[in-house]
Amino acid sequence: MRQKLVAGNWKMHGSQQMVTSLLKELLSKQAPNARLLVFPPYLYLSQAAELLAGSPIGVGAQDCSQAEEGAYTGEVSAAMLADLGVSHVLLGHSERRQYHAETDSQVLEKAKRVLAANLIPVVCVGETLAEREAGATAEVVLQQLTAVLEGLSLDELKKVIVAYEPVWAIGTGLTATPEQAQEVHALLRSAVAKVNKELAATMLFLYGGSMKPDNAASLLEMPDIDGGLIGGASLDADQFLAIGKAAE
Ligand code: 13P
Repeated sequence: MRQKLVAGNWKMHGSQQMVTSLLKELLSKQAPNARLLVFPPYLYLSQAAELLAGSPIGVGAQDCSQAEEGAYTGEVSAAMLADLGVSHVLLGHSERRQYHAETDSQVLEKAKRVLAANLIPVVCVGETLAEREAGATAEVVLQQLTAVLEGLSLDELKKVIVAYEPVWAIGTGLTATPEQAQEVHALLRSAVAKVNKELAATMLFLYGGSMKPDNAASLLEMPDIDGGLIGGASLDADQFLAIGKAAE
């Protein structure tokens, strides 16, 4: 049985004050049984890790450098994130692919760094609206996933989490229907099963893209949807916790 995971990607939102108030609110309210994880901006990771230490809520980073260390101005390494007490790292988010031209091979290199630092990579895949309309969804998401499946060992893959985020559903209020999301999740899981059946049975596949309290339950009850990667609704404690409840 895969325990559901509900993760909040705060993207470039927040302030020191907001981090404290949001996390204190999450901690003080009735916690759902689902696992919760937050991805604050880099600058607030140590603040978040300190506030959440000893709590069941985990802390992840939104990206990391593909280099180990050295002369890479502005970059943050996986080892630095591990040093802060971070447990997960988002990789290949569509906003990184779109605005920073991140490629599948960079995502793979970053995943290797994250795993070497004993952290868990959350690899994002997803098609644009044009790709979906052209009937290329399967091809696009399988190509993105395959880069990681082929480049990592089985032991490494056992730690990987995959997030399916259709680009057209991110921040748009348009959500994939539970059936659309399930179809892609099942396809991704079957690609993993070709590598190793047991791996496919245990790997977590999160759905992201305008997941809200009112649509979360119908998405999360699908057999291959193991949790959510929440943007906008994760900035509101009540909404985030409501999605956590829907995942129970
Ligand atoms: P929204 O929930 O705001 O659509 O964002 C989804 C997302 O990109 C999470 O990584």
